[in-house]
Amino acid sequence: NIEKTLEGKTVLITAGPTYEAIDPVRFIGNHSSGKMGFSLAEEASKRGAKVILISGPSSQKINDKNVTLHKVTSAKEMLSKVFEFYDKIDIGIASAAVADYAPKEVAKEKIKKNDDNLTIELIKNPDILKTMGEKKTHQFLVGFALETQNEEENAKGKLEKKNLDMIVLNSLRDEGAGFKNDTNKIRIFTKTEKKEFDLKSKDDVAKDILDFVESQLLK
Ligand code: C5P
Repeated sequence: NIEKTLEGKTVLITAGPTYEAIDPVRFIGNHSSGKMGFSLAEEASKRGAKVILISGPSSQKINDKNVTLHKVTSAKEMLSKVFEFYDKIDIGIASAAVADYAPKEVAKEKIKKNDDNLTIELIKNPDILKTMGEKKTHQFLVGFALETQNEEENAKGKLEKKNLDMIVLNSLRDEGAGFKNDTNKIRIFTKTEKKEFDLKSKDDVAKDILDFVESQLLK
């Protein structure tokens, strides 16, 4: 029997990769599975929250009456879906692996392999979480940082730059952490606190993250 510690709260979670179209059949994407975000959604729901889960293409399934799943494809679609709900949420958790760049133009027809070289011009995608941070009024915002070097410094930099309340760091230097694994090893930072966790299943990591969020909300 789980205590309904998030009863009355609305939690928005972004999850999965984004796909950025090149032409009608191709895209730029990444290997994010969406597992971390779906685990967070399930755990938040168990704790009594109303959950808005906005996910890019992912094979994860969720069947929970407190979770509304909105499927999107690109970063721009994810951004506009987030802002349909942003004013009404209490907690925002950005676990999506958003593509940093998207093709400037989407070819109308399938690109033919005629030339030996092909150049695709990319332009920067909107930073969804940074935009959430800029428009923050009352929302408690949680970001993720997936780093390979200067981990702590980079994570703290993102906490500041994106106007977050908390950031979850996973270092790719830790075995079993990150993207495609079923496990994760995290460190959490706020402006004043730091906490380090052991390697765990993503379901257990979701519990640690939400416990930490709840401890901050009580402050
Ligand atoms: O700057 P970086 O991509 O490392 O930041 C990671 C955090 O920002 C994650 O929480 C990710 O979900 C979020 N993000 C986003 N939109 C982007 C890029 C990152 O929401 N375009």
